[in-house]
Amino acid sequence: MAFEVQSEIRKRLIDAFTDASGEFLSGQSIAELIGCSRTAVWKHIEGLREEGFTIEAVRRKGYRIVDTPQKLSSDEIRLGLKTDFIGQKVFYYESVDSTQKIANDLSTENAPEGTLVIADEQTSGRGRMERKWHSPKGEGIWMSLLVRPEIPPQQAPQLTLLTAVAAVRAIEEAAGLTPVIKWPNDIMVNSKKIAGILTEMQAEADRIHSVIIGIGINVNQDRTDFPKELLGTATSLAIETGNGLPRSRIIQEFCAQFEKLYLLYLEKGFYPIKLLWESYARGIGSFMRARTYNGVIEGVALGITEDGVLKIESSDGTIHKIYSADIEF
Ligand code: BTN
Repeated sequence: MAFEVQSEIRKRLIDAFTDASGEFLSGQSIAELIGCSRTAVWKHIEGLREEGFTIEAVRRKGYRIVDTPQKLSSDEIRLGLKTDFIGQKVFYYESVDSTQKIANDLSTENAPEGTLVIADEQTSGRGRMERKWHSPKGEGIWMSLLVRPEIPPQQAPQLTLLTAVAAVRAIEEAAGLTPVIKWPNDIMVNSKKIAGILTEMQAEADRIHSVIIGIGINVNQDRTDFPKELLGTATSLAIETGNGLPRSRIIQEFCAQFEKLYLLYLEKGFYPIKLLWESYARGIGSFMRARTYNGVIEGVALGITEDGVLKIESSDGTIHKIYSADIEF
């Protein structure tokens, strides 16, 4: 299992290139910005080239990044990341069973809030309601984000809705699509699922230790890449936009959107997030069928509660609170 954590110097080098926005940086100014010798700068530039970055070097001008690698890496994610803490620590793996498990282990080792675990492939990716999540190599974004909000454990589902808003906005910004949300957290484009969210937490009765938010986004698959059971219900950014997209760009946009919403949530509570979620949600006010673990409930979807629970009014006037289900409408 190969994994990679960036060295501090490498992080500073990438940050310097991010701030330069494609302009040349002289060897001397890089050395000063990242606090090392010019020889060390050269070695780190070579390191980036080995990772697949194309770096132009021009005498008396310096260096600039002209292309980034196809393969995901912590460095590529960091180049262009404009956040204070979300995604500032990235653990990247070529192949893991599930990023949820790795993030969970890291949380018990006191990894900081905002730590992101990303894998190119998951061999046992997990979805909601104990389903498998198809996570083939190089085809998508399979990542888990660690946060430690000071909120009561029963409010943790609110973070799932917040994440859905962040994912919709990231896809809008990076891919130019207009996804919608199907309760609680399916991200849909043209009535097919493009991304899903799985939230898990470690908590005591009244205190959260950590929340691990797993996000899966289908990026590069074409129609033939999906297994039979997903044909007709799943889609990818490549299918919907007609072209490939760098995964790092979507990850960076997601981190930026998530950080903004998360800070708003910590300051003002769930209400502004609920309004945003409702503006992207589809099916509220319509007839819905909810397949829960305990059977099927049908009726009109009234909306969500303050805790993000779905309310459905059945024909006899009963209002049902739905905590977990598959929805059809
Ligand atoms: C869903 O069923 O809609 C939720 C899917 C969540 C998948 C992601 S991929 C990254 C993370 N690791 C996992 O094993 N699952 C989540």
